[in-house]
Amino acid sequence: MSFKFLKEQVRQQQHLSLFRERSLITAQTGTEIIVDGEKYLNFSSNDYLGLNQHKDINKALIEGVDRFGLCASASSLVTGFNYAHQALEEKICQWLNKPRCLLYASGFAANTGVIQALAQNNVKFILDKLSHASLIDAVINDKQSFKRFAHNNYEQLARIMATQNDHNQLIISEGVFSMDGDSADIVQLNTLAQRYNAKTYIDDAHSIGVVGDKGQGSSYYCESDLTMATFGKAIATNGAFVTCDEDMYQFLVNFSRHYIYSTAMSPAVAWATIKSVELIQKETWRREKINQLSQLFIKMLNDNITLVPTSSSIHAIVIGDAEQTLMAAQKLKRKGIWLTPIRPPTVPTNSSRLRVTICAHHNEQDIKYLAQSINEVVI
Ligand SMILES: Cc1ncc(COP(=O)(O)O)c(C=O)c1O
Repeated sequence: MSFKFLKEQVRQQQHLSLFRERSLITAQTGTEIIVDGEKYLNFSSNDYLGLNQHKDINKALIEGVDRFGLCASASSLVTGFNYAHQALEEKICQWLNKPRCLLYASGFAANTGVIQALAQNNVKFILDKLSHASLIDAVINDKQSFKRFAHNNYEQLARIMATQNDHNQLIISEGVFSMDGDSADIVQLNTLAQRYNAKTYIDDAHSIGVVGDKGQGSSYYCESDLTMATFGKAIATNGAFVTCDEDMYQFLVNFSRHYIYSTAMSPAVAWATIKSVELIQKETWRREKINQLSQLFIKMLNDNITLVPTSSSIHAIVIGDAEQTLMAAQKLKRKGIWLTPIRPPTVPTNSSRLRVTICAHHNEQDIKYLAQSINEVVI
């Protein structure tokens, strides 16, 4: 039989408690989701600031559809780049204090698009071990081109950089790490880059909107050479951006295949994204609320429950075993709490976890109920 591996590999996933399937969400309103007709309190969403379905963003989307259309109808270098895209790029440049910005269809496309373009020129990539799948996929086909350093271990990073100092080197890290919620030290990364005449690439997917006085992500601490962030999490729209200097911008427009050969992001969504960024800059209470609720959550958990220390929306309760993590998530589901269990290969073996996201639209009662339920389930 051909393609025997299809069934075999899925069966193996089931055997290892690693089988994945989708859940159909039939309604989503603020913190609640309806799955199979049942209502749950959602603690797995990346809508950190609670901006999804914000009426001003929805209004801007409709205005964008009317003015620019839903579809770009071409790639950016053909006829897909229009006024809405340009206005969003300028908005982001002002926000992050960067000379240039490029929009991509998704964060995955941006990471692969930038890194693969640089890879054509023998750049050596040095990635934090916990980097997102899209960053790893970008380099994985050329084993000679990359090295990985232990999570946030900058001594090891410096040692690696010293051994290949005669190459162009790019340090790659997430700003806030997606599955742990802890942060990179952006200042140290940039200092190291300067020492070795290298550049930095920061994936701010989970920092943008949440970190910094105006939600500007890791750019609040210090300027990196390249910053990527998706619009699909705290910004609550769709697509992604990369900021950089003029030389990098010109290079990417000419050589980044995901930029060149892909339909530009929806201009209407770009227009709506401008509104979202304005709200993020202005409404500091959203970030303050995440902090307050996170403190409450940490305080209420039993001493036997260890959290990865974080100052972000993401709180990881590492259980270890995949089956036990699945069971914990099932028990929480029975209590009306939705927490998707995170298992390998998304996280390293034996570090399966419950990944809690605390968002600005949760309230104290939600958090108290969550903490009590976790105390009962994780023993
Ligand atoms: C750290 C990180 N980078 C990149 C991405 C990809 O972004 P997008 O969902 O826009 O493709 C994600 C999203 O899952 C992410 O968590």
